[in-house]
Amino acid sequence: MSSSPETWHYGVVARYWAEFNTDGPEIEYFRRFIEDGGEPALDAGCGTGRLLIPWLQAGLDVDGADVSPDMIALCRERAQREELSPALYVQALHELDLPRRYRTIVVCGALGVGSTREQDEQALRRLYELLQDGGSLVLDNEVPYARAHNWKYWLAEHRAELPRPWPPAGERQRATDGSEYDLRARLVAFDPLEQRARSEMRAEQWRDADLVAAEEYGIDLMLYFKDELVYMLKQAGFGDVDVRGGYDGGEPTPDHDFLVYVARR
Ligand SMILES: C[S@@+](CC[C@H](N)C(=O)[O-])C[C@H]1O[C@@H](n2cnc3c(N)ncnc32)[C@H](O)[C@@H]1O
Repeated sequence: MSSSPETWHYGVVARYWAEFNTDGPEIEYFRRFIEDGGEPALDAGCGTGRLLIPWLQAGLDVDGADVSPDMIALCRERAQREELSPALYVQALHELDLPRRYRTIVVCGALGVGSTREQDEQALRRLYELLQDGGSLVLDNEVPYARAHNWKYWLAEHRAELPRPWPPAGERQRATDGSEYDLRARLVAFDPLEQRARSEMRAEQWRDADLVAAEEYGIDLMLYFKDELVYMLKQAGFGDVDVRGGYDGGEPTPDHDFLVYVARR
């Protein structure tokens, strides 16, 4: 239970995140929960601060935590550039141990990322403990059937095709410092019994014709269906769990790739 989740959010991948993942509808969507639900708030699995930094700029009282020291270091650098000094912690969700209790906790894209089912269950208990009475956990999760090219691996005949070959080198993305990134991922294993998909990533950073960094990572992604995650939240102690569709706040439909769980303590 205490083993650290294995993710790919390190080194080149962390720098790629800091450079290119700075936008998205989640920023405004989750911000409203903090404004309505109250502060202080925690961005658990905050990464390089895609959500956290705009929230701090809006004057909200938000702390951040993430298992990856590289993501937290880049988040801190960005905060310092913006003359912000948030409390940031390098901690795994299932081991969260923080000095404050929160009115609102947001988990965006971080549950089941590199962790085991047992760690995720423990993470939900830790998040419950970190909330004040009446506080809310707002957590998004991609549904297991969101990606057509992965869905077929629930069937044994297709699992025989795994591991998938590496995709060919794509078009590199140019960063503000002039270096270029090439990230490629492939599915290597899929276990429908454990509801777990294992992928690998090759991450390269180039400067002109020179390869300045090349790294390879593996990650397990846990797949949870709606009622299963509602049950896990209730098992963790949450009394009232509301499920919403995507980032539009409406009712969930079969066509939503992401569901948002609003769980009250
Ligand atoms: C997809 S990124 C999302 C980052 C940020 N929430 C955002 O939306 O920009 C996932 C982040 O979750 C972190 N993460 C994954 N598993 C975690 C765990 N068990 N505990 C804490 N952080 C975790 C990763 O290090 C990474 O920074």
